[in-house]
Amino acid sequence: MLETMRWLPGEESLELLDQTKLPVEIVYIKCSDYRDVASAIKDMAVRGAPAIGAAAAYGLVLAAGKAGAGAKEDFLAQMETAASELAATRPTAVNLSWALSRLLQKARDADTSDTAALRELLLEEAHNIFHEDASGNRKIGEYGHGFIPQNGSVLTHCNAGALATAGYGTALGVIRAARDAGKNVSVYADETRPLLQGARLTTLELLQENIPVTLITDNMAGFLMAKGMVDLVIVGADRIASNGDVANKIGTYGLAVMAKAHHIPFYVAAPFSTVDLSLQAGDKIPIEERDHAEVTRHGGRLLAPAGVKVWNPAFDVTPHSLITAIITERGVVRPPFEKNLKKTI
Ligand code: MRU
Repeated sequence: MLETMRWLPGEESLELLDQTKLPVEIVYIKCSDYRDVASAIKDMAVRGAPAIGAAAAYGLVLAAGKAGAGAKEDFLAQMETAASELAATRPTAVNLSWALSRLLQKARDADTSDTAALRELLLEEAHNIFHEDASGNRKIGEYGHGFIPQNGSVLTHCNAGALATAGYGTALGVIRAARDAGKNVSVYADETRPLLQGARLTTLELLQENIPVTLITDNMAGFLMAKGMVDLVIVGADRIASNGDVANKIGTYGLAVMAKAHHIPFYVAAPFSTVDLSLQAGDKIPIEERDHAEVTRHGGRLLAPAGVKVWNPAFDVTPHSLITAIITERGVVRPPFEKNLKKTI
């Protein structure tokens, strides 16, 4: 499996797999300044909620490596500036600000003002975030694979796989775990307009592991369900409000509505770092809107008349009433989510 990111010890740099080039080319971007990491997140070279959280954490380590010796307050002020720049790159996935807050807190709590020692502590915390995510995903897989029947057919949207995380994946982690448990699981992957994470990334991951996958365009999902070709839907999440409303890749909401209409269970697989208990409901989740060119152009080709008005929200919000269960590394959370998410902390 392709590595989403790797820290280069001794080189003070982070390598990020440029996912915009997949599946055609495998290219790593070397980042030695936190601003390189911020650009890679904004341009979606690295994407997926847990992956951008881990990348931003390493980005802050790069900022710490460049901080000059001085008072601890000065160090913290520099870290806060870098953290706000990194956090502003993509507003919807809460894992980004969650990871940065974890590092800032670590620096504040440290009883040293030595810049090199503080930078070491931040690196250790970034590694912790990365490794906890990878192991948490395996737990999500263990808790979730029971929902997939022996000869199950799963529909997924976007990419919530190893490429979107520190490894193994959330929604794709559940599918991997089902395969490892001896099930004949097959997958339908929505292409996921406009940036085609399903077509480019999800199919690549599954093909590499010989998990049967069939690519469909987003507008085929309803007919697929109507024909009884799907047993369940599993998607990832970018932010989960305390009532269980879920922000995920644009198109997720429509899938959930259609799944309900066809009595197909709809699961969300996500680490607890994606849960934002500070927000009561999904309407408070900030939704990123991206460049219109993502909709009007593809591969340099114009797909619509020049100057056409475009709306390009990158995410939507699925109301909790459409969700069967949320699979986390701490266990499966079922409705009522308002009560049960708090109990799972
Ligand atoms: O815009 P992206 O590609 O970052 O969106 C990714 C998703 O919506 C994923 O489903 C989500 O981040 C969960 S990844 C485990």
